[in-house]
Amino acid sequence: MPALIIGSGYGGAVTALRLAQAGIDCHIVEMGRDWTTPGSDGRIFTQTASPDQRGFWLRDRTKQPVSHFLGVSIDRNISRYTGILDAENMGAIHVYQGRGVGGGSLVNGGMAVTPKRSWFEQILPSVDANEMYNTFYPRANATLGVNNIDQAWFDSTEWYQFSRVGRKVAQRSGFATTFVPNVYDFNYMKQEAAGTVTKSALAGEVIFGNHHGKKSLPVTYLGQAASTGKVTISPLHRVTKVAPAAGSGYTVDIEQINETGGVVATKSVTADKVFFAAGSVGTSKLLVSMKAQGHLPNLSGAVGQEWGTNGNVMVARANHAWDTTGKNQSSIPTMGIDAWDTNGVFAEIAPFPAGAELWVSLYLAITKNPERASFQYNSSTGGVGLSWSQAQAQKSIDLAKVVFDKINKKEVTVYRSDMFGSNKVWNEGLTYHPLGGAVLNKATDNFGRLHGYPGLYVMDGALVPGNVGVNPFVTITALAERNIASIIASDM
Ligand code: FDA
Repeated sequence: MPALIIGSGYGGAVTALRLAQAGIDCHIVEMGRDWTTPGSDGRIFTQTASPDQRGFWLRDRTKQPVSHFLGVSIDRNISRYTGILDAENMGAIHVYQGRGVGGGSLVNGGMAVTPKRSWFEQILPSVDANEMYNTFYPRANATLGVNNIDQAWFDSTEWYQFSRVGRKVAQRSGFATTFVPNVYDFNYMKQEAAGTVTKSALAGEVIFGNHHGKKSLPVTYLGQAASTGKVTISPLHRVTKVAPAAGSGYTVDIEQINETGGVVATKSVTADKVFFAAGSVGTSKLLVSMKAQGHLPNLSGAVGQEWGTNGNVMVARANHAWDTTGKNQSSIPTMGIDAWDTNGVFAEIAPFPAGAELWVSLYLAITKNPERASFQYNSSTGGVGLSWSQAQAQKSIDLAKVVFDKINKKEVTVYRSDMFGSNKVWNEGLTYHPLGGAVLNKATDNFGRLHGYPGLYVMDGALVPGNVGVNPFVTITALAERNIASIIASDM
């Protein structure tokens, strides 16, 4: 086959659409399910409040990002299933990722943020920023269907009371706030509020999948790609090996799995070009193990390096009794505290849609944490580990603490210490934003071509060195748009 793409998230979806439009047949191999068939309860996705097996990737017990309430664990046993959200344990950190046709777009909050140009220029100095900001960010935003909330509606609806409280207290402490664009259709959301359509964001749906309203990749890039007739997808297929084929091209070994994770068949195909789009962790693990096992020995030493968490840390504050955040909260965040230039913090004002008034303000902070980790192959287990340590997350806490200490002091409020464990204020043990591991212009050339192997490319979050300063998918999409345009022009 001409082109094989590993993974159907942002990098993979952009690659498939643009190759197909250039007349090139391609095949996507995706280890997660195709989330199109309802279960016996008539739902495709599980309920947010009490997720069943559909919520988590091959786990015996749920692993909720906000894991406790009043210090008591809310996690419970489930049966092992190829569920939509992977809380992948990489030693000191759980890396949350979407699993299924559409990758992270199935589970994320849809926040579609273009980073400040000055920061982009610092992290990816080899990329022409003019081209990115004039051509590729606009192209990505348009194709992703990014839209903005109607600010008058935001200011009046009960569904964003939580966000207005977050804005008010941030501003009273001298921090700027900013509206954040999203791929959730805000017109649909208004109709949800009016009671004229089936609720999704206003029914709390997000991290386990949205039935309506969200423009995830299957309805944008992948939908357009499918309509070309040139793209096929194999869900529940996992790539395990890529190596040069006899003659030319690459041999790709694939395991077909069932919905409990068991291997039902192994396959081997040959492709002229192979695009790694398995996400920062997926792509890094594959490349590091292929190099260590001698299947792709000439890969650059930069493979597996410069991985970061985008400085992610979660925290919650307790508001005063009169400062209600609302029992009705939209699950789609649309505002951030922008203290990036002053404090190295961009904090998403996150919803906590529990269906009851809890006086909680929840935040996911992205911080300017310079710590990086690397992936290593373990020859005795055959697995790939990550060197990230808990101590490396301390910098994220330190940065976020300055901002939220100031807000608490001004408001005479305190942190919640019951939501991430018993007596635990900060949740630094997770990331939603893994980045790096095959950094652009280091592990690859300046357009994602892997050094040493013509016809192998990296197209996903692995290209971004550890921290993009805002939520990452718009940057991953725009960079993929830039790179595939060059690859189609020169290599196809
Ligand atoms: P992505 O992870 O999307 O796709 C990789 C795909 O490859 C997956 O579908 C995976 O199953 C598949 N795969 C992996 N290994 C494979 C193998 N060996 N064989 C076959 N398939 C394989 N970002 C943002 O900008 N705004 C936001 O609001 C949020 N919110 C958010 C919430 C939550 C809960 C999460 C988990 C994440 C976010 N994110 C986010 C992050 C965002 O979703 C993420 O950065 C992108 O999905 C990464 O895109 P990639 O293309 O790099 O990989």
